[in-house]
Amino acid sequence: MIRRPLGTRYGAIWAGVFGVVVFSLFIYVGHHFSDSSTDMSRWRSAITAITNLGGGSGSAYDALVLVPDPQGDANWSVSDNYKWYTDSKLRELTACMARGNCPKNADKVVINNVWHCHNAFFGNYLGGEGTWCNSMHRSLERQGYTVLYTYYDWEYVDHIHRQIPDLIKVIFADDDDQNSKTLPFMKSEKNPHGIPAWKMFRFSYYSSYAGTIIGTPWVVTCEPEWRDPDHGPRNFTYLGYDMEPDAAHISVIPWEERPYRAYVLGKHITFFHKDRARVAWERDFYKRARDQIRKKFPSFEFVSSFKDERSEEEQKNEGPMTVPDGIRNLARLNPVEFDHDLSTSRLLVGIGWPTSSPSPYRALARGVPFLSPYKAHVDAKDPTDPYEWTDSQHDALRREKPPLVYNVPEFDYDSFVKAIETAMESPIEGHIYPRMTRPAFDERMRYLMETDWRAEAARILKLRKAGNETQNNGNAQADR
Ligand SMILES: *[C@@H]1O[C@H](CO)[C@@H](O)[C@H](O)[C@H]1NC(C)=O
Ligand SMILES: *[C@@H]1O[C@H](CO)[C@@H](O)[C@H](O)[C@H]1NC(C)=O
Ligand SMILES: *[C@@H]1O[C@H](CO)[C@@H](O)[C@H](O)[C@H]1NC(C)=O
Repeated sequence: MIRRPLGTRYGAIWAGVFGVVVFSLFIYVGHHFSDSSTDMSRWRSAITAITNLGGGSGSAYDALVLVPDPQGDANWSVSDNYKWYTDSKLRELTACMARGNCPKNADKVVINNVWHCHNAFFGNYLGGEGTWCNSMHRSLERQGYTVLYTYYDWEYVDHIHRQIPDLIKVIFADDDDQNSKTLPFMKSEKNPHGIPAWKMFRFSYYSSYAGTIIGTPWVVTCEPEWRDPDHGPRNFTYLGYDMEPDAAHISVIPWEERPYRAYVLGKHITFFHKDRARVAWERDFYKRARDQIRKKFPSFEFVSSFKDERSEEEQKNEGPMTVPDGIRNLARLNPVEFDHDLSTSRLLVGIGWPTSSPSPYRALARGVPFLSPYKAHVDAKDPTDPYEWTDSQHDALRREKPPLVYNVPEFDYDSFVKAIETAMESPIEGHIYPRMTRPAFDERMRYLMETDWRAEAARILKLRKAGNETQNNGNAQADR
């Protein structure tokens, strides 16, 4: 769309308005911005002065905020040219500030520098991380915040941050602030205009590793801590996601209308292979179990939707991989079909991977319980105690009980069959966790955006300097 305007009608406008307004604005901002809020109002009046020259609306404006349309040309993709998107968001912000009609919160900016989120937003990646990223994006935008994408490009993050440091509240990043790739851009004695550590939040789908250099609240997670406080929870910041669509738009198929069907969770055929994945059941369980369960429920079946995701070369070298006997592979991967197949089942069966995926929540919301395999520690005194499990397919559901969630020890055939048979005649209502409703989720995103993280970091640093290490991170330097 923009190539035409560039070449013809709006060519002059682009060269003129874009060049003068945006460029001089950023030069201005880059030179004059500091931490004080009076600079903010000086900035606003500077923008107003400049944009009043052109009126700030109409076709010139449209051209300014347009993101180029790839129109099927792979060399023209917005995914590769993410700066188009982000630059256009900044121009949009500039214009609404000049007009004084920005949505509430628009001047609070999030930079998303996470690889998975880039692929979710520009590439329609719908895995677990993608679900999380897209939900956060929608929540932030529906509350008016400005979200920019930088595709793990620290130079570009730095480039933006130096121009509008006051506006940038939060930077989501894949790695922590002690990573060598990040380090050159962090604020330090040598780099006083770098990115302060307190703006940086590590994106941690699996709640893994330690905190950032400041502390554990700077790790954002997609699942809440499942441990009780007296079992020493880490103080990560749970953001998570909400159910899409929400409860009002999810239909729960009446139990008696559903066939005796267990849906096997997973999409990659390698998930059945011990050398490629964390496998919870022997390959022959499915057919054995199906045949045994059919004695009680003659029409019982396992269905699934797996595909071979390996490269052509891998397929050639490793030979064919198939879904185990006893599972009928529907081989559908579109999310609408998945939700349909799922909601007509009586149970969702985990096979080890994928861990902590959104699918069990989608199932529960549709009144479909979840069978979650776990592995108890070899020395466990009580192997049924979730605190004594080394692995669970879904940590946040470790402590749930039937008929909602059947936590079953891996490779235990009898427990596997028993749980499925029980589930076949144990209906549940559609279940959405309160934490996954939109209001609860939006509140967490607001908490992230509105908390004074600088003050919080200062408090931690003060204690740290006084020898009171509250973040279990005592050997890290925090004065950056
Ligand atoms: C895309 O770029 C490549 C490499 O520069 C070129 O060979 C190819 O013809 C281009 N494709 C299109 C559709 O322009
Ligand atoms: C956890 O983090 C929050 C937010 O930074 C903070 O207010 C709270 O004091 C922390 N709790 C603990 C136990 O460190
Ligand atoms: C360290 O600081 C925390 C938070 O202010 C406080 O609760 C705790 O008592 C302090 N510990 C020591 C040893 O001073």
